[in-house]
Amino acid sequence: MNVPYISNTILLQNNTFSGLNLRQNLIVLDEVSSTNDYLKELLSNIKPLAEGTAIMAKHQTNGKGQRGNTWLTTPNENLSMSLLLYPSELLIQHAFNLNMVICLGVQQWLKRYIKDVYIKWPNDIFVGRKKIGGILIENQLKGKTVKSSIVGIGININQQDFPASLSKLATSLKLNLGSTEPLSVEHCCLEMLSEIFTLYKQSNLTNSQNIRAAYTASLFQLGKVELFEINGKQTEGIIQGIDSVGRLIVLINESTQSFDLKEIRFLI
Ligand code: BTN
Repeated sequence: MNVPYISNTILLQNNTFSGLNLRQNLIVLDEVSSTNDYLKELLSNIKPLAEGTAIMAKHQTNGKGQRGNTWLTTPNENLSMSLLLYPSELLIQHAFNLNMVICLGVQQWLKRYIKDVYIKWPNDIFVGRKKIGGILIENQLKGKTVKSSIVGIGININQQDFPASLSKLATSLKLNLGSTEPLSVEHCCLEMLSEIFTLYKQSNLTNSQNIRAAYTASLFQLGKVELFEINGKQTEGIIQGIDSVGRLIVLINESTQSFDLKEIRFLI
C-alpha cells in the first residue's frame, strides 16, 4: 500500500479535537479504486488505526455510491474522501444517528459558501433541487453495536460540465460560487472534516432527539408536495420527518406512513 503524502495542516493548527483523541491526519492519494475500500483495507492491516484517519483521493477509478451504484467523478476536480470513526456504544438500530450527524456536518460546512443547502433523505446533499454530494457509510459491527464506521463523502467541487443525463440534476461548489479560479479540493476537505469533527464531538449518538430535530429541519422538500415512486407506483406525498430508526415519514392521502430506503424513491 502506497501512501504518497500526509497533510495535517488546518486540523492540527486549531487542535480542537484533543478531548476526543481524534488524530487529524489526512492521507492524500493520487488514484485509488475507492477511498472507502482503501480505508477498509488499512483498517484490517493496521491495528490500532487512529479514529479520525481520513483518506482523500484525487481520482477514484471505482467509486461506490448508495444502493450499489457507481459514483463517477472527473479526475482532480471533486472531493472524494473517507473518514474512520469509532462511535462508542452505538447500537445497530441507532446507526442512522451517525448518518444524520455526518449529513449535518457536511451541510454546515457548505453553508459557509452557499445558502440553499438541504439534506435529501437519507444522505444526499442538495443545493436547491440539484445534488452537490452524497454520503456512503459502511459500518463494521460487533455484536449489537457499531464497532467502526467508514464514512465516505463525495462532493462536487470544481466540476462545471456534467454528462447530459446529469446536467439538470447535478451541481458543484464552483458553479454555485461562480468563481473563475479552481477551488482547492484539499482545503475544502480539511474544512469539511473540521466541521464534521466538531459536530461529532458535541453529539450524543445514543440520544438522537436534538440531532433528529436539526436533520428534520434541514430536509429537502420538508412539508411540500413531492412525487415519489412507492411499490412501483408514482405517488404524491408530503414529507413530515423521520422516525426513530431513520425511516422517512410521508403524508399520503391524509395518512402518515414510514418508508425505508428500499421502499420509496424520489422522482426528481
Ligand atoms: C451516493 O450519493 O450515492 C453516495 C456517494 C458516496 C461517494 C463517496 S466518494 C468517497 C467515498 N468512496 C467511495 O467509493 N464512495 C464514497
